[in-house]
Amino acid sequence: MIRTNARFVNSCFLGLPQQQYGSKLNYHLNKEPAPNQAFEYLKGETSHKQPTFQEQQLFARRFGIPLTLDDLVKVNETAGIEGGELENSENPVILDKEYMRRRSELLEISATQDMGKDYIPLIEYNREEVNVWGSVFKDVVDQCSILGAQEINQQFVSMKKELRIVDSKVVQIRDLSNYLRQQGGWRMRPVSGFLTLKSFLLHLAFKMYPATQYMRHQTGAQYNFEPDILHDVFGHASSLLVPEIAALHHKCGLATLGANDELLEQISAVMWYTFEMGLCRKENSEGFELLGGSLFSSVKERIQALNGSVHVKPLGDLNQLKYSEIQYSGLQKEYRASPPLKELLAIMNEWFDDIIEKQPFEAHFCDLQRRIIITKIKQYW
Ligand SMILES: [Fe+2]
Repeated sequence: MIRTNARFVNSCFLGLPQQQYGSKLNYHLNKEPAPNQAFEYLKGETSHKQPTFQEQQLFARRFGIPLTLDDLVKVNETAGIEGGELENSENPVILDKEYMRRRSELLEISATQDMGKDYIPLIEYNREEVNVWGSVFKDVVDQCSILGAQEINQQFVSMKKELRIVDSKVVQIRDLSNYLRQQGGWRMRPVSGFLTLKSFLLHLAFKMYPATQYMRHQTGAQYNFEPDILHDVFGHASSLLVPEIAALHHKCGLATLGANDELLEQISAVMWYTFEMGLCRKENSEGFELLGGSLFSSVKERIQALNGSVHVKPLGDLNQLKYSEIQYSGLQKEYRASPPLKELLAIMNEWFDDIIEKQPFEAHFCDLQRRIIITKIKQYW
């Protein structure tokens, strides 16, 4: 979860919509100033052939599209946390100097990761961190195995068994990433702090999921407003192991290529109300199942979402979801419930397909080269 006025995310989604959308979302290209005269020669070229590598580079630079992992890390990645709960000087997390020192240490270690080499540092978790992990472990594991959508529950149980996830040892993001890679070609990338919205969503196009390695503070074991390793392990990893959900996340990333802020924000709102904070209706029966990562990883949030004490609204038209209505701090005052998972995936796939269709180019991610390849430029500017 992220709470801020700025456009940033970590393992979550955030955006501030600036306009209302109609029933059809218009594609808004993020057009940067022309970088140099070299681009000029592309104007007027026909679009029948596949662009050369140089043409792809020029086009990508013109529209802020990262083609490689090197390009991806150059996307404005870091954002402040102004407006977040950590700004509150009375917050026990801020007042715990040793915790803040340790957290800085872990963030620094995470920042050493080299994406190209797939190096993910191992963390030696201290006793306090293991205690926090252990204090919620049984509850989270027991409930995550049965309260989520069936497809997610199954993956969670397999992941726990395969990685030998236990209460006395914090799982390593390196092991989790290797497991994701073996199962479906995804990787986790440790991040040193909050990412911009654009940076976060673009990682999905590269089949990478930004993840935190630090542990929440002991006072927030049952509920934490920020993502931490508990959130990313229990909230998102098992979802990414469901092939259809992983494919949707990837499509979400591809839809982000070249998108301007307005589109980024609308995409982030859709993802927030579903895979971050959403419930979904059970198939062929009454009641709800967990869908969003925040509900899996926060004991208090999950109990509240399912006990009927807080209003649950239907997800509704994806174009009408407004990020400005998201509650940034504290337990949510209402939740959105989507149709059952299969139906939701069909709706979201169609929504992202519509965005991708309107992109003035065609592109895909090459797993082997780990880069975006622009296969066709449909329109020049
Ligand atoms: Fe998240």
